[in-house]
Amino acid sequence: MAAPSPVSDEPEPAVAELIAARPQLSMHAFDGLTLEGVPLNRIADVLGTPAWVYSAGTMRARLAALQSALKDTGAQIHYAVKANDHLAVLRVFAKGGAGADVVSEGELRRARKAGISADHIVFSGVGKTVREIELALAEGIYQINIESPAELEMISSIATRLGKTAKVALRINPDVDAGTHAKITTGKAENKFGIPYDDAAAVYARAAALPGVEPVGIALHIGSQILSTTPYRAAFARAAELIRDLRAKGLTVSRMDCGGGLGIGYRDEAGGSPAALAGAIKGAFAGMGLDLMVEPGRWLVGPAGVLLASVVLVKGNERFVVIDAAMNDLVRPAMYGAYHGIVPLAAGNAVGPASPVDIVGPVCESGDTFARNRMLPALPAGARVAILDAGAYGAVMSSTYNARPMPPIAMVDGEGWSVIRERQTYDDLWAGERVPDSLA
Ligand code: LLP
Repeated sequence: MAAPSPVSDEPEPAVAELIAARPQLSMHAFDGLTLEGVPLNRIADVLGTPAWVYSAGTMRARLAALQSALKDTGAQIHYAVKANDHLAVLRVFAKGGAGADVVSEGELRRARKAGISADHIVFSGVGKTVREIELALAEGIYQINIESPAELEMISSIATRLGKTAKVALRINPDVDAGTHAKITTGKAENKFGIPYDDAAAVYARAAALPGVEPVGIALHIGSQILSTTPYRAAFARAAELIRDLRAKGLTVSRMDCGGGLGIGYRDEAGGSPAALAGAIKGAFAGMGLDLMVEPGRWLVGPAGVLLASVVLVKGNERFVVIDAAMNDLVRPAMYGAYHGIVPLAAGNAVGPASPVDIVGPVCESGDTFARNRMLPALPAGARVAILDAGAYGAVMSSTYNARPMPPIAMVDGEGWSVIRERQTYDDLWAGERVPDSLA
């Protein structure tokens, strides 16, 4: 079932409004659009387009803001690596004091490679393999979030075989509607995630009786791009009630993982509020003596990234603006109908009468559309644009569909910038492919 769209019926924000609402961006007469003061045209001149640009300063500032909002809850931040798993991004968050929430062997290895210590890593996910559990145990990570009775038995037997004890939290499914897009809501009973609320006490008791595992707490994650505090309050209240119930039964519960999901403003909607999240956490868990944690991804990294593209040509009576980035680079508009702001890089292209255009990519699917009926000033061939708020679930979800090499990534830090990933070459595209002798 589709969730109500959080986007308002207000006229869409003008280019100047999109920029004004984002402190990391500004428009200058000569330098054009800048990210943390660095002109994006300068980066595009060197790297070409499409290209991603991330701002380390924006990530640091957002982490610091979230830490400060959560301060008196005592909650630890485990950055959800899936949102953007680049090693340099993980380094920024690690140096800022965040741990990691991982969902695969690859993410666990990335987090360790970026210098995040094992005791700051939580492993979530519905389908961890034997191999992944063995690695998590060998590394001695802080916590494994269990999503089913079958997984509990599996971890118990693997840990027993290896002579280890796994600290586990039970991810419960609180059956709460996060009010977000149907594809990214995760805490409803019909979703595949977590242990049904009514089964949780029995599974926790079973965990306490099994060898090789030590149940330490409860976890939940109700969805992503959540803009209201109401679903958090409802889910946390259910978790607190369960913890009281477990304790009354003599079971030890010392940790509560409150999940991620805090949304950002993509269009003109207000983003999720860290202060309100902190309030909901305190409201439910204050005075319970729990070690609290959160697992945000999008809120920390989404606004810190842009995707730069150039107009290839304009067709259909100026209706279709074809750019050189496509759905294989940033799939969110095609996959979720997601809105991303689109802003010209040159000041001269950002002014002038706006008319409705479709911003589309070159991939052979109608879904390869970044924006429909977007009010923009005329964008001639060669004009560059930035697709905003692309730092989360952007590069990590890209593919090489239509044999399009992955774009390079630059990171702006202070007054300078550097390339943190090279553009993929055509040879890279088929590296690893073999044509069998029979076809020689
Ligand atoms: N923890 C768990 C267990 C998760 O499954 C997720 C996201 C997070 C934390 C982080 O959620 P965040 O704070 O970033 O909302 N590709 C989609 C989003 C999928 C989110 C999946 N799980 C999108 O582009 O909107």
